[in-house]
Amino acid sequence: MNNNTVPSIDDVVVFFDTTLRDGEQSPGATLTSAEKLEIARQLKRLGVDIIEAGFPAASPDDLAAVQRIAQEVGTEDGPAICGLARAVERDIRVCWEGVKDAVKPRIHTFLGTSDIHLQYQTGFSRPQALETVRSMVALARSLCADVEFSPMDAGRTDPQFLIEVCAAAVASGATTLNIPDTVGYVTPQEWGDLISMLIAETPGAGKGSGVIWSVHCHNDLGLATANTLAGVYAGARQVEVTINGIGERAGNTSLEEVAMALQTRPQFYNLRTHINSREIVKTSRMVSNYTGMHVQANKAIVGANAFAHEAGIHQDGMLKNASTYEIMTPESVGWTQSRLVLGKHSGRHALKVRLQELGYELDKDQLNAVFERFKVLADAKKNVTDADLEALMTDELHRPVEYFKLEEIQVTCGTMGMPTATAKMTNPDGETVIHAAVGTGPVDACYRAVDAIVQSPNTLIEYSVHSVTAGIDALGEVTVRIADPNTGRSFGGYGADDDIIVASVKAYLAALNRMVAGLGLGTQVKPEGEAATVAIGD
Ligand code: KIV
Ligand code: ZN
Repeated sequence: MNNNTVPSIDDVVVFFDTTLRDGEQSPGATLTSAEKLEIARQLKRLGVDIIEAGFPAASPDDLAAVQRIAQEVGTEDGPAICGLARAVERDIRVCWEGVKDAVKPRIHTFLGTSDIHLQYQTGFSRPQALETVRSMVALARSLCADVEFSPMDAGRTDPQFLIEVCAAAVASGATTLNIPDTVGYVTPQEWGDLISMLIAETPGAGKGSGVIWSVHCHNDLGLATANTLAGVYAGARQVEVTINGIGERAGNTSLEEVAMALQTRPQFYNLRTHINSREIVKTSRMVSNYTGMHVQANKAIVGANAFAHEAGIHQDGMLKNASTYEIMTPESVGWTQSRLVLGKHSGRHALKVRLQELGYELDKDQLNAVFERFKVLADAKKNVTDADLEALMTDELHRPVEYFKLEEIQVTCGTMGMPTATAKMTNPDGETVIHAAVGTGPVDACYRAVDAIVQSPNTLIEYSVHSVTAGIDALGEVTVRIADPNTGRSFGGYGADDDIIVASVKAYLAALNRMVAGLGLGTQVKPEGEAATVAIGD
């Protein structure tokens, strides 16, 4: 058994990032193993203490992805690597296989404890639930020194029973007690009171016991950050969060919001974190691009408008002194004035070095492919910034398997005539197929031409476009989400190009290729939500 655990210090709040597990449960946010590994590397740079890398028992792919993250990111100087397991023997043993190669491995096991979950999900009586907690936490502890237990739906669990469950988990070896508001039901006041009460009254888990109390909040009423901070104020020293707040339904607590609240209000909280806030925006963009989940413009900290000042009186104040309308600087969260890095005279070596500084390790073929695109971009656009490079990297390296490949796209539009597009593509048999279509606008015409070739009916549920940097020559980024009408599953896609129509087609095709591949369809057992095909406790 490995004895390395996450150290507990009273004035430090440890960040448990579950972007790769709860976040990946967002409809349409399926990530490939390579994307998960890169996000995990970035989470390490961001300074998170624990990465919940996945749910290893869900599928062999999930297990392999967790193992790889444990080996490559769970190093001596890296975060603890955690896997999720239902309170079921097989899940716990598979979870251990997933995390055991990390220097600091953690098993996170959970069981629904509210009457609703007991009645409708497991069919357990309260004594049966207590016995399951005891035996499964003990099993996890026999494998791993660092064990987290969550009483799922704690927000709607009888508080006295919650104390019994938490006491049983600690007595059986749990080192972290995570209290989830699984359905986003509680209010900040109630949540703070509950956490204080649990810390004070759970035998064996009070102050000085070494047990870390944790909170895991969902955002169904838009209260996830407020509830999490109320939990911290009441004594919780671990927060479970995701980048951009992605997750089941309305999502989880946003890492960036909690981190910046603690950093911006030290007089109020008087607590430290290990988060390097300057990495926040970069991490946010990476997660948004890979999942195809666009960040709304007015999202706190990471939205495009988070530091934009529109009203005249605000602009006037900002010019006189930024603190009139800004409580933190954009630079402190990584909104740099995109640094000018490279131009058309920059060579392959300069590009490689800058990409390495940005955290990308490329093999020769990848570097060649990115260099070709960099040259085209640098010709069209004098200054190529870090943000441009990141968009290029996402577009180049994170295309799903290209069953259908775009060769050429041509579109005519304007005030005269009908918008018409001609798409030339390669199909999975390697044949070239050409189709033309008219539409209500140029993007619609392109999508119809692509549809005629791919022939996979779908509904476009989200289309968003924005420019990577300011200026008429900026690179455009498009994210789309489409839904498969047969299964209801949604799929995201991302595309970047200096031609916004081309970026739109790339994004659409990426989502379509994911749908065609059936990524995740029917093969995954999710712990909660729409894809939970195995009852908890089976
Ligand atoms: O929301 C929840 O209850 C969870 C548990 C698995 C911790 O995600
Ligand atoms: Zn959750």
